[in-house]
Amino acid sequence: MGNKKLVFSGVQPTGNLHLGNYLGALKNFVSLQKEMECIYCVVDLHAITTFQKPSELLENVLETTASFLATGINPNKSIIFNQSSVSGHAELAWILNCVSRIGWLNRMTQFKDKAGSDKEKASVGLYIYPNLMAADILLYKATHVPVGADQKQHLELSRDIAQKFNNDFNCQDFFPLPEPMIPRKISRIMSLRDGTKKMSKSEESSYSRINLKDTADEISKKIKKAKSDSDPIPDNIKSLEKKPEALNLLTIYSELTQNNLEKVISELSGKEYSVLKTKLSDVLISEITPIGKEIKKLLDNKSHLKNILRKGSEKANIIAEENLKNIREKVGLI
Ligand code: TRP
Repeated sequence: MGNKKLVFSGVQPTGNLHLGNYLGALKNFVSLQKEMECIYCVVDLHAITTFQKPSELLENVLETTASFLATGINPNKSIIFNQSSVSGHAELAWILNCVSRIGWLNRMTQFKDKAGSDKEKASVGLYIYPNLMAADILLYKATHVPVGADQKQHLELSRDIAQKFNNDFNCQDFFPLPEPMIPRKISRIMSLRDGTKKMSKSEESSYSRINLKDTADEISKKIKKAKSDSDPIPDNIKSLEKKPEALNLLTIYSELTQNNLEKVISELSGKEYSVLKTKLSDVLISEITPIGKEIKKLLDNKSHLKNILRKGSEKANIIAEENLKNIREKVGLI
């Protein structure tokens, strides 16, 4: 095994990506491509672990692809493709289903959350979702995986699966153990209405999130309406512990201006939140609206987007097939 670094990450196809997706994942993907080889995958096979309307799934794959491009992922540098068009993902997932253990999957907290109270009715796919995720990563022998903190447990499972494969088939170092790259600051972007909940496309009120496709007008309205605090901005983070909405606005501002939170707080301390809100609207509008416009423009030309995915899939498939040949051989498949 060489020590070549390779980044792999997957994003579920959803329409309307929001600021949380941008700051938590996409922006980081863009900067990683300057340092390493990167493969970014729209994980449509993961999406169907819960029912998706076929026409919506197709739209969402294209919109996620458009969001990749609009934020600055360069398809000539990085590989951008959709999971289902490289059949090796499904094939390796099957092999890994036979390596992974039921006891390991039973510990996955995301399954417990997603399956809800009636686990008997969850799809089998949802249960083995983490094995498919391991296959995504190991198919390319990726070494680094940028993910949100909520995927840490799945990534640890991928490492366990890689290790067990290497042991079972007597090939130490065959699969590198993938390293998680979890954003250092636990700066999760929270809902603008309830600072204890993650910003999410499933929250009912659209005032809870900034979408990448929002207009300048929508952004400033949403920030004006966002929950903050009636006291002025304090001079330390500790005083914000019980004020998650206020902390969230400051966090978003610090992320967008690339200043650390302490610095932002010390500069704004004593001021009303309306001052922060004006500044925040301005930086959001200047960073987000050009991305939104580009997404809309790209979505006007679907065949261009499909072409990018097709070319990406061809490149991904070459690496996948080469690795699969060796994997099949290790397992003893003809
Ligand atoms: N499960 C990830 C999520 O929901 C998406 C994903 C699928 C992924 N396969 C992956 C992330 C491989 C990193 C690597 O966010």
